[in-house]
Amino acid sequence: MVTWWKMYPCWRLVTILLAMIFNGSRTSFALHNGVGVTPAMGWNPYNAFACNTVESQYHSNAQAVVNLGLKALGYNYVNLDCGWQGTTRNASGAFTWNVAALPNGVPALATFVHSLGLKFGVYSDGGFFACDAVGGTAHFLGSLGHESQDAAIFASWGADYLKYDNCYAVSSTDFVDFDPPIEIQPHYTTMRDALAATGRPILFSACEWGVQDPARWPASSVANSWRISNDIGPPASWDNLFRIINQLVPITGFAGPGGFNDLDMLEVGNTGLTTAEQQTHFAFWAAAKSPLIISTDLTTISQAALSILSNPRVIALNQDPLGQSISFKRRYTNDHDVWAGHLSDGSMVAGNTLVVINMANSARSIAFELSDVGITSATAINVITGASLGTLTNSFTSAFDAHGSLVLKLSNFVSATPPSFTFYQAAAAGNVLGGGASTRVINNTITVVGFVGEGGTLGFTGIDGGAAGGTKLLSLDFVNADFTETNSACSNCRNAFISINDGPAVQVQMPLSGQSWDILFSGYLVSLSGFVAGKTNTVQISNPTAFTPDWYRIGVSV
Ligand SMILES: *[C@@H]1O[C@H](CO)[C@@H](O)[C@H](O)[C@H]1NC(C)=O
Ligand SMILES: *[C@@H]1O[C@H](CO)[C@@H](O)[C@H](O)[C@H]1NC(C)=O
Repeated sequence: MVTWWKMYPCWRLVTILLAMIFNGSRTSFALHNGVGVTPAMGWNPYNAFACNTVESQYHSNAQAVVNLGLKALGYNYVNLDCGWQGTTRNASGAFTWNVAALPNGVPALATFVHSLGLKFGVYSDGGFFACDAVGGTAHFLGSLGHESQDAAIFASWGADYLKYDNCYAVSSTDFVDFDPPIEIQPHYTTMRDALAATGRPILFSACEWGVQDPARWPASSVANSWRISNDIGPPASWDNLFRIINQLVPITGFAGPGGFNDLDMLEVGNTGLTTAEQQTHFAFWAAAKSPLIISTDLTTISQAALSILSNPRVIALNQDPLGQSISFKRRYTNDHDVWAGHLSDGSMVAGNTLVVINMANSARSIAFELSDVGITSATAINVITGASLGTLTNSFTSAFDAHGSLVLKLSNFVSATPPSFTFYQAAAAGNVLGGGASTRVINNTITVVGFVGEGGTLGFTGIDGGAAGGTKLLSLDFVNADFTETNSACSNCRNAFISINDGPAVQVQMPLSGQSWDILFSGYLVSLSGFVAGKTNTVQISNPTAFTPDWYRIGVSV
């Protein structure tokens, strides 16, 4: 292995150290290919046209990026997606294009895109073939084994961006494998090095669908962005957003300048989401520092969708030079989520993402508790409307559309005293494990209780309710690696039902903690009532129909 400082000429070293000092983030791992320092913005046809996009559509959409004012807002890449490639290499082994889709060829299209002052992106695949069948036994070309040659040709055609997919990664017959028996990271590092060798700055967008936990490779040393999940669509749906949002929870800390979690291309403008849902989708993707790649037909886009995509304040959250993603702060199950993160000017972006599952299509008012983001008061701006809200203290109640959201920029904030907890380990003697519940040891260090649910139960005893009992804030440390690429009632989450002193069981919906069963989530907060004074309280965890996460410990507020 090469020590990291040997990988860079001296002038780069200075930049890297400054970046480390001033950002305090994970920039030491970033790619430093000079592009993608903030999340990529642009247009790609896939969510609108799948693999059937033709030259005239690339032309008209590139022109629309300029004419609709999107280029001026920072959307500067126009990218190819599947279907542009040929099915056979030429006599020199070089990559070819689909002449039916692109009769004038890729170099001419690149020239056209560049003539508009935009950048041009190509698409390939790290496997034997690219995604999607052409018909019959033919396949679109992939780049496996041809990385240097392909990178050089893409660069010579004027490519500024490469989206790199993951189909046929294992063999020429295994189309999509979410659990491949091989390591896929080398497909991406080989292409990263091939792109670097061209000498042309080419933004590298890894599209490995979150397979093998790329954030922890870490993918920030491989690509400028990496997909965290399976496709967002088409078709677009609220369930797809919910699946991806849960999948982001454990990896928000891996985003930083030059390397970002990619939540997939935008569905704003496409059917399947209400206007409020599209607004939530766009604001959440922006604040999570996902690339903002528009993927709708811009020649027919509605004014409502265009104004969502054109909001300069939301775009500014995305392009903030600190590059910090919002992170999960609190979930009020079946009610709303709170996420927050810092911006480079010292302010904080925070907001409620309403996640009403049983109350879809109902508008209502919600109180945002400032303590959920660790503060008691702040000056606030509504990021979506631009309205100044003055000083908020303790809580702020506002109206929400169904699946709508509130996005606030908070400054001049006063920190709240953090709650303090008494912790109780799940595996402690005196607790009662029922049904199939059993203990397991992680990393020879901590013991957790698993197989809770489906008959298994975990009962804590001897919990201190303090002098008054009543309602307590609980802090839950758990492990949940039950990740999925498809939608279910609880995609990338598990439900626990928690009962205090044999009172009513309260549903608590808990997101992923990681992609392996040794990664903890610490500090999931939930308020539960029914405690009595003194040290005789019990906390019972169960789920009649599914497994809960595995449990390390619970904290009960003092
Ligand atoms: C193959 O394509 C490459 C790149 O387009 C070109 O430079 C080369 O001349 C072609 N070779 C043949 C034999 O056509
Ligand atoms: C166990 O080790 C893995 C690998 O080092 C690490 O990612 C994980 O956080 C550890 N888990 C705990 C609970 O310490």
